[in-house]
Amino acid sequence: MKEATVQFYDELPDNADLRAEVLQGLGTHPRRLSPKFFYDRRGSELFDAICRVPEYYITRTETAILQNNAAALARLAGTRTVLIELGSGASQKVRLMLDVLRPYAYVGVDISKDFLLQSTRRLAAAYPWLKVHAVCADFCQPLSLTCCPPQFKRVAFFPGSSIGNFEPQHAVLFMRQLQSVLGPTGALVIGVDLKKDPHHLNAAYNDAQGVTAEFNLNILRRMQRELGAQVDIRGFRHEAFYNEAHGRIEMHLVSQRTQQIRIDNEAFHFEKNERMHTENSYKYTIEEFQALARDAGYQPHTVWTDEKRLFSVHYLQVENRD
Ligand code: AVI
Repeated sequence: MKEATVQFYDELPDNADLRAEVLQGLGTHPRRLSPKFFYDRRGSELFDAICRVPEYYITRTETAILQNNAAALARLAGTRTVLIELGSGASQKVRLMLDVLRPYAYVGVDISKDFLLQSTRRLAAAYPWLKVHAVCADFCQPLSLTCCPPQFKRVAFFPGSSIGNFEPQHAVLFMRQLQSVLGPTGALVIGVDLKKDPHHLNAAYNDAQGVTAEFNLNILRRMQRELGAQVDIRGFRHEAFYNEAHGRIEMHLVSQRTQQIRIDNEAFHFEKNERMHTENSYKYTIEEFQALARDAGYQPHTVWTDEKRLFSVHYLQVENRD
């Protein structure tokens, strides 16, 4: 069998970024760590496991929406496309699109290098007719994607409601910036989690097996592994709750006692119950999200949901102002 080849591009700065941002986040009050630091190899595996816990409805609901509507989606996207997946992770859902869209090339963009290489290699083996590119990058930073041939329509696929991990004003800036990659004929297929009963949301981020708790605490393990941080991981606990006023799930790590985290020569003191804010996951109504997309310069075209209206997948066209 021919060996599957993947063109690999590394656009990620070394972990100077991690050190500087962690030191800054621990030094401010209230303390904050960016959710992008969840995704080292272990964190990506834990996120993959979250996607399979029964309480986390997001992945299976979005998958079902894509299964039911892939053909319609492919008709909208058209032929002669390059499919760019942002935060490609395990690259599972995109297979539903590849089967019907049959793009000229696939570009997976992810921050977690080993995981990205592993999943794009698997994809290349399963789709021998497809040109597969892997770009290791923080997609919050401007992307150049020189690997995409200009004569093809660029379709970005941003599943899983990762857009919910941006503050709404940053979501607008991010989507606007993405237009320079997509060009005037491009489109964005984006999964967005919908507002719903808070019990349902709280359960999804507090699964009974404790996988989400492990995922949250992994940020401390990563600080130990990569920054040599001195931290007692058992001294912190996972907390996640729906903040109705802000329309978002908040995740925190809560100190169980008075303690310190030490990195290099700096010590960060925590009182009992003092928190580090690690993630927001915004939930939208369809109308709220479409307004956001318009603000970012897109024309909402079609939106698909499931029967219970738990989740939505939007097809947005770059608004051509000519
Ligand atoms: C990646 N992102 C969309 C997930 C979410 O639901 O906000 C990350 C996650 N955090 C806890 N569980 C899953």
